[in-house]
Amino acid sequence: MNIGILTAGGDSPGLNAAIRAIGKSAIRSYDMQVIGFLDGFRGLMQNRIVRLDPDKLSGILTVGGTILGTSRDKPHKMDVGGTEMDMTSLMIENCEQHQLDVLVCLGGGGTQKNALRLHKQGFPVVTLPKTIDNDVWGTDATFGFDTALSIATEAIDRVHSTAHSHHRIMLVEVMGHNAGWLALGAGLAGGADVILIPEFPYDVNVIADAISVRRGAGSSFSIVAVSEGARPMDLHLQMEELREIAASSEGDVKKDAKAALAALDASLEGNTQRLAAQLQELTGLEARVTILGHVQRGGIPSAVDRLLATRLGTAAVDFIAAGERGVMVATRGGHTVTVPLEEVAGKRQTVPHDHRWVQSASTLGVSFGQ
Ligand code: F6P
Repeated sequence: MNIGILTAGGDSPGLNAAIRAIGKSAIRSYDMQVIGFLDGFRGLMQNRIVRLDPDKLSGILTVGGTILGTSRDKPHKMDVGGTEMDMTSLMIENCEQHQLDVLVCLGGGGTQKNALRLHKQGFPVVTLPKTIDNDVWGTDATFGFDTALSIATEAIDRVHSTAHSHHRIMLVEVMGHNAGWLALGAGLAGGADVILIPEFPYDVNVIADAISVRRGAGSSFSIVAVSEGARPMDLHLQMEELREIAASSEGDVKKDAKAALAALDASLEGNTQRLAAQLQELTGLEARVTILGHVQRGGIPSAVDRLLATRLGTAAVDFIAAGERGVMVATRGGHTVTVPLEEVAGKRQTVPHDHRWVQSASTLGVSFGQ
């Protein structure tokens, strides 16, 4: 049996641990041949491959990033010489040329959708869930999240002493465009006073009040953990309205609503800076912003991420050998299971309002700006 592997979307700590686990177990347990496509779906289209022999799989467990490279390309919307084209058929031809039995796609929500497209058009796939955002539907966790959570928590820990010394509001922006797991987890673990996530649109006056109440009680500094996708309520309502129009319309109306939505989404860039300026104005305290950015995706994966990636990777090969196709290999309730891609694709695991982290934070007096 021959299998191909690709990594797609933003890189994530633990990807190499997963590639190693898939490759080594495929070779050792089933005598399979394993190849990797470089740079995600782009390399699949361009037929750029590397043979994943045992020597290529050695020494990569602790290495960050992905040895295969990655890209954010979508098979049905490839930029080919400046023109957007559906290249799914060529990708399938390339898989067939290498006599692959299955293609294993490692990625986040977008990759699950893209993999399903390939599967529906006739080429068997199996996927693994990776992303620091932890927002893939159908799995209790994605690998990469734990490492990023530790990095973001350490950053919040570090700004505490300087916030305290200068009596400032310190806003720490963490990744998470559509889901607030990282800001919520790092904010709670790092003792943030305010946590702002996309799931809970905020009111800046409520945040300013919470900070002023703390000040009145003798704490002259505050730490605010902010998801990059956190948004004020008015912007949130506008976006919801456009989303509804886009979902319920066709043609130009749909196109315009989608374009307006994308513009509003883009306007979130710089939002944490604007929020800092507003809080400074409203509270009279100095405010500073730290944007963690890609530092959260870099470096050595944590032990938890290595274990998850290794467990899902070895299990994926067993599932493949047993004939499973069109599924994502997930962790649920401590078990390794398969979930049909049809169920996963197009959904996102956001923070539920009654999540136990939200409840604990609320009990401790953390403000969500609501
Ligand atoms: O992969 C997920 C993620 O890290 C998000 O948290 C973030 O919004 C996005 O990727 C950043 O993407 P890029 O690396 O393309 O700038």
